[in-house]
Amino acid sequence: ARPLIIDCDPGVDDAVMLMMALASPALDVRAITTVAGNVPLHLTSRNARMMCQIIDRTDVPVFAGCPRPILRAPVTAEDFHGESGIAGLDPFEPDTPLARPHAVTQLIDMLQAAAPGEYTVVVTGPLTNIAAALVMAPDIARGIAQLVIMGGADTAGGNITPHAEFNLFADPHAGAVVFDSGVPAAVLNLDVTHTVRAEPERVAAIRALPGERPAIMAKLLDAANTLEARWKGGQMTPMHDPSTIAYMLAPDLFAGYAARVSVVTEPGDRFGKTQVSAQADGPHTWVTSADADAFFALVESLVAS
Ligand code: BDR
Ligand code: CA
Repeated sequence: ARPLIIDCDPGVDDAVMLMMALASPALDVRAITTVAGNVPLHLTSRNARMMCQIIDRTDVPVFAGCPRPILRAPVTAEDFHGESGIAGLDPFEPDTPLARPHAVTQLIDMLQAAAPGEYTVVVTGPLTNIAAALVMAPDIARGIAQLVIMGGADTAGGNITPHAEFNLFADPHAGAVVFDSGVPAAVLNLDVTHTVRAEPERVAAIRALPGERPAIMAKLLDAANTLEARWKGGQMTPMHDPSTIAYMLAPDLFAGYAARVSVVTEPGDRFGKTQVSAQADGPHTWVTSADADAFFALVESLVAS
């Protein structure tokens, strides 16, 4: 199984992503680190631990990271995730406490101790923790095979401003550090995630599977659809963060191209926008499309297992 660290800000779609990752026998999730994003840090940290408890994976430690972005003022996204950050589930205080130390310290410790290219790091929130770790200890790059990031938008346009996607808008300076770091990243962005939506029949197929977990995932997707519909005129919720795990498990379901990626950090209407230029020897993979039906078949097979 591939060793994995997941950095996230649950977040309804982060929660679905965690259910997929923790269900897969092909992935070995060694740590979950949390960051302020969709909701403040104490809630993203609680929500990550809630998900571990709900799916009986309290063996995976959860480390809390940065409570705010590097430079800009914090922004949250309760409109899409609920006040608790985990719309669809009743919040509770998990039995398992947060692990220590600070997530950034933990990332550095694990990655410095790793064999070259040992870890894949999935990032589904603002990039603050990863940027801080790379600034404090650039040598951690050696331990990372690839970053698999949910963030950014090119042809699709933004979801928080006309140009910017939430995770990069919430901490563009962190994004700039990470994309410039030389660590290769696969970037699952709105161009692709807006083509993979939780249509009602797809949620129904998940709900119809036996067991508790499919019912929990269906509740999350229903709640996300209800919140999304208030804003996007009837569109179903995109599978933003789950696309990272689908990409890891089944890269052939996706298409993309080699690119160089930068982030607009100057104030103005393009603040937080990702700028993408195709470049054969570019460090990153900009993912542009997916087989949406096969994606949902994969989600079903994971949640049914
Ligand atoms: C991203 O922003 C968050 O609201 C979601 O959890 C996802 O990571 C989509 O733009
Ligand atoms: Ca997220």
